[in-house]
Parts: sequence; structure tokens; C-alpha cells
Amino acid sequence: MLQVAVTGASGRMGGAFMEHLEDYEDVQALSVVGSTCLEKVCQTQAPDVIVDFSSPDATLAFAVWASAKKVPMVIGTTGFTLTQLDRLADTLHSVPALLSPNMSLMMNLVWRMTANAITVLPSDAVDVEIVEKHHREKRNAPSSTALKLAQIVAEKRGWSLAEALRHKARWGLIGPRPQKEIAISSLRGGTFNSEHSIIFAGQGESLEITHHSQSLEPFARGTLRSARWIVKQSPGVYDMLDMLGLSEVLY
Ligand SMILES: NC(=O)c1ccc[n+]([C@@H]2O[C@H](COP(=O)([O-])OP(=O)(O)OC[C@H]3O[C@@H](n4cnc5c(N)ncnc54)[C@H](OP(=O)(O)O)[C@@H]3O)[C@@H](O)[C@H]2O)c1
Repeated sequence: MLQVAVTGASGRMGGAFMEHLEDYEDVQALSVVGSTCLEKVCQTQAPDVIVDFSSPDATLAFAVWASAKKVPMVIGTTGFTLTQLDRLADTLHSVPALLSPNMSLMMNLVWRMTANAITVLPSDAVDVEIVEKHHREKRNAPSSTALKLAQIVAEKRGWSLAEALRHKARWGLIGPRPQKEIAISSLRGGTFNSEHSIIFAGQGESLEITHHSQSLEPFARGTLRSARWIVKQSPGVYDMLDMLGLSEVLY
């Protein structure tokens, strides 16, 4: 039996994950609502793994507890600053932890495909634009999934992400597009399910890869797969591409 403590269990994603776990007889879910409740829930039942869909500050506090108790973590929460990500990695160095801003198998494939495409497409002739769409309640922009797409492009092109990233609407007399630019456009509204597109705009042709999510179920599925995997790993910080064996495939 795999005991999974779910932090952020009352939220949209935590709730969808809890619902998904009901289909599995070999998994027991421990619902954690509120920041102090983890200690209380875990006093009676020690979890094998913590799955977190909460908020950056809450995740950092849960990570301190996980590290002290040596409980592996799967973190799906997004919106961390770079400083918070560094703190998280420091805190979690002694336990196995998997962090992924997107738990969908197909979105992980888009990251992999982006790395492959950008290796082949010339940087002086092919511009990269990223478009992401989310429901009106989403707190951070751009999405961490879109930022990871931009980061992959910047790394493969040898550009500084901070210098190349543009995340403002274009408006007015903006002049020609700079060559060394990665632009992200964020759309927010209603109950949109998340959507991410990366567009490679070349000379006389373009290529677009889009991931559409139709429900939260694919994220829940990827999260459970990650939880089953992380409990068997040595201490260290991993992402879903490591779990899928896609980190170093092809290019
Ligand atoms: N990696 C992925 O594939 C993926 C997929 C979907 C969402 N996400 C991310 O998961 C996170 C949650 O998304 P959501 O849509 O479920 O948001 P949500 O509906 O607002 O839920 C957030 C949850 O976190 C809890 N929470 C917030 N601050 C807390 C704190 N300081 N201490 C304890 N609990 C706290 C909330 O509890 P209260 O309601 O009691 O405040 C709630 O249960 C976001 O960062 C989102 O981007 C990731």
C-alpha cells in the first residue's frame, strides 16, 4: 500500500488528484488541508510520499518537514521565484524529490520535442513565440510551463533567458522584432483548461506545437506515476523527464 499525503487537497488540482486516487486499491490518500495539518496527519499515519499542489510559500514549509522526516516529495506547485527554487533544492537535497510545473505526459513530450526542434532550426532565421492560456483564477503569469519552454530555447541557443525573454503585450510603434527574443503571451479567462503553444516562425514556413488539456485527469495520472517512481529513487531533485527517461534522449 502506498500512503500519499496530499497537501493543497482542498484546491482544484489537489482535489482532482485525490479523486483520481480513489480508482486505485493499492494507494491510500491522506488529505492535508492547511499548513499546520501535515504534522497532525502524519503523527497517526506516516506517509511514503507527499504530493504537493499548494502555493510556493506553503511548499517551502512542507519541504522543510519532508526533509526533516526523510519523506520523498512530488511537487506540482508552480510560480516559484528563482530564489525560492534555490531554497527548495537546498532544503530537499537529502530526500528524493520530483518537481514538475506540468505533470502531463504529453506536455513533457512537448518540452522534449522543443529541445529537438531548436537544435535543428537556425536561430538567425527562426523566431520563437510561446502562447499560454489559463482559467481566470490562475495566480501567476507567465505559467511555469511556458517559462520552461522558454528556458529550453534559451539554453539550446546559448542565450541568457533574462535578456531574451519578453513578456509584455506588443503595442504601438514597436519596430522590427529583435532576433534574440523569446516572447510569451499569457491569456486568462473564464474556465479555460490550460493550453500551451510554441511557434517556430521561419522564412516562408512555420511550425506550431500545441498541448491542449481537456481536464485535470492527465495531470493527476502523471502525478501518481511520479509518486510511485520517486519513492524508489536516491536522494536528489528530479523532474518528470528524468522519470520518463527523456532527459538525454536524441539531442
Ligand atoms: N504541475 C502541474 O501539472 C499542475 C497542474 C495544475 C495546477 N498546478 C499548480 O498547483 C498549484 C495549485 O493549483 P490549484 O489550481 O489547485 O490552486 P487552488 O485551487 O487555489 O488550490 C490551492 C490549494 O493550496 C492550499 N494552500 C494555499 N496556500 C496555502 C498555505 N499557505 N498553506 C497551506 N495550504 C495552502 C489551498 O488551501 P486553502 O484553500 O485552504 O487556502 C488549496 O487547497 C498552483 O501552483 C498551480 O499552478 C500544477
